[in-house]
Amino acid sequence: KTPRIVIVGSLNMDLVISMEQMPKVGETVQAQSIHYIPGGKGANQAVGCSRLGAQIDMIGAVGGDPFGDQIIGQMKRHGVNTEHISVLEGVSTGTATIFHTRQDNCIAIVAGANEHCSADQVSSCESLIRQADLLLVQLEIPLESVRQALTIARSAGVKTVLNPAPAKPLPDELLQLVDLLTPNETEFAALSGAEPDSEAAWQQSMTDWERRHGHKVVVTRGAAGSSYLDDSGALVTVPALTVSVVDTTGAGDSFNAALSYGLALGWTLHQAVSFAGKAASLSVTKFGAQDGMPKLDEVMEAGR
Ligand code: RIB
Ligand code: NA
Repeated sequence: KTPRIVIVGSLNMDLVISMEQMPKVGETVQAQSIHYIPGGKGANQAVGCSRLGAQIDMIGAVGGDPFGDQIIGQMKRHGVNTEHISVLEGVSTGTATIFHTRQDNCIAIVAGANEHCSADQVSSCESLIRQADLLLVQLEIPLESVRQALTIARSAGVKTVLNPAPAKPLPDELLQLVDLLTPNETEFAALSGAEPDSEAAWQQSMTDWERRHGHKVVVTRGAAGSSYLDDSGALVTVPALTVSVVDTTGAGDSFNAALSYGLALGWTLHQAVSFAGKAASLSVTKFGAQDGMPKLDEVMEAGR
């Protein structure tokens, strides 16, 4: 079966500047290279799902400029349906300027056209969302649009996954529309106000969160892997694969893509989380957010 996933989210041109070490505030460093590559959390997650074999419709907005053309071209090459991506004349495509070292990154985003992915645009795609197996959203477009997409999906019984990145305060009524929330550790701390400092504290904070909001949470924890609570309430941490890291940009997107792919197929949470952890581990072995995203057979082969 081919799962159908709708993604409502951002598309950016990533300006990736590679360097040995991050500059400190006020410091100038010599960097090695700059690359212009399509990114944006929404687009990355769309490409990740599509490369695994899902049928993907992406809803979003780019500017009527060369960056927008390049991004749409790349999405098409990866098999994503781009019909519902608006091209807005007189508006700039979103950009992300990324300081990249082998182990880390720092990102500054200018939203541009992503700010214009409106709730009305989402509403015009209502029937598309209603027909999906799963809706996947992030937080690089207006919150109103995220809420609109979740509302439509929930009313049609479509599974909803919210990757709360980058973190921002979220109203309870929006969180109620979510089936699965996928923060990283920092985002979970920002959202919940908790700062778990032991595995027992993580279990407690996640339990409190799930009770309060009535949905599941999976926390991504970088090289440590990812954690969720099983049916008995125990904390399960699925370790990441040991890999040689080239670029961590988009690792979270790869995780969310693969997790959503599995859930759209009706896999158990444990199956989907294990699969997603492998996909994310593979993605960091390659440069760039989208090109490093693995195909289905690569994930299936990994860690055997
Ligand atoms: O998650 C990685 C992405 O975040 C980058 O591609 C960049 O565009 C930022 O949105
Ligand atoms: Na990568």
